[in-house]
This record gives sequence, C-alpha cells and structure tokens, in this order.
Amino acid sequence: MDFKDLVQKRRSIRKYTEEELTPEEVQTILRAGLMSPTSKSSRAWHFVVVDNKELIERISQCKSAGAEFVKGAPLAVVVLMDTQQTDVWVEDASIAAVSMQYQAADLGLGSCWAQIRFRSQEDGTPATEVLRELLGFPAEYEAECVIAFGHPAIERKPQDEDKLKWESVHVNQF
Ligand SMILES: Cc1cc2nc3c(=O)[nH]c(=O)nc-3n(C[C@H](O)[C@H](O)[C@H](O)COP(=O)(O)O)c2cc1C
Repeated sequence: MDFKDLVQKRRSIRKYTEEELTPEEVQTILRAGLMSPTSKSSRAWHFVVVDNKELIERISQCKSAGAEFVKGAPLAVVVLMDTQQTDVWVEDASIAAVSMQYQAADLGLGSCWAQIRFRSQEDGTPATEVLRELLGFPAEYEAECVIAFGHPAIERKPQDEDKLKWESVHVNQF
C-alpha cells in the first residue's frame, strides 16, 4: 500500500481478536518508533512493551476513563520519555507513537492511542504515577501515552475524502 492510501485507511481500532502479534511484527513496529525523528536527535524515548495479560488489564485501569479498550489488546506499548534529556519530550514521544501506529496499519494491524499525560484516576492520582508503580520507571521519566496494538476485530471506514477540513489550510496568510 502506498503512503497516500495508508494515511486514508488508518483509523483508531479499539477491538482486537485474540490473535497474538508475531515477534517480527512487534519488532517492525518498534523499529518505526526507534527510527522516528527527534529534536536534536536526542532519541530520549523508552518503550515498555507489554504482552502480559494481567499487566495489560491493569494498564487499562490507569485513568478514570478512555483506556478501557487497552484491556482487549494482545500488546500495549507504553511511550516514556526521559524529560532530563529533552525539553520537547511531548513532541518526540508523539511522533514516535504515531510512527508506530502507521507502521502497524501498514502491517494490517489495528492500534489506538490512550492518552496518559494530564490524565488521572478519579481520586486525582496521575495516570503516569499508576504506570510508574506498575512498570517501575524512574522519577524523571514521564509517560505520554499507551498505544494498544492487535488484529482488528472490527472494520472501520477509511477517512472520507469529502470531509477533510481544507478550510483549515491557509495559504501565505491566515
Ligand atoms: C493525543 C491523542 C490522544 C488520544 N487519546 C485517546 C484516549 O485516551 N482514548 C481513546 O479511546 N482514544 C484516544 N485517541 C484516539 C482518538 O480518539 C482518535 O484518533 C480520533 O477519534 C480520530 O479517529 P481516527 O484515529 O480513527 O481517525 C487519542 C488520539 C490522540 C492523537
């Protein structure tokens, strides 16, 4: 599939079959993250690859709402950044996460982003701290998101070419 079709076909998939990803698929997805561009080439990301079902379920409960779908995924990648190494860690983490999502789509896999930064549990505990406790990453590291991956159990329509917000594009002046 060429990239023009890939960007149209990629949709957030929140329902997955039981089928595991192959080690090659997991490696190809991570490779895309590790090849993603970073400011000053800092490459300050860390990816925690989780395929343990119990751990995945606990990750799905790390915030009050919006991560439930992670529970049904055979694989979750927690995108962490060493915030001491770069001032633009949000950008670098996001680019890596999305690169992995496009790679997954190219492999025929589904994925969806679960936001972690600025999200919390009902009692106010930051989702990052829940993940820190579960996964054991150091205090200076922050979690941007969790990306769930799996074989799609639903089909979603490609993006509608006629609904693109071309009015948000401004040429030369706003
Ligand atoms: C920064 C960001 C945060 C997101 N957080 C969540 C989330 O916490 N839970 C969720 O179900 N989807 C989340 N999504 C997925 C969006 O809901 C999804 O991309 C959007 O609805 C557009 O749908 P599409 O990806 O199928 O084009 C997030 C996406 C982005 C880019």
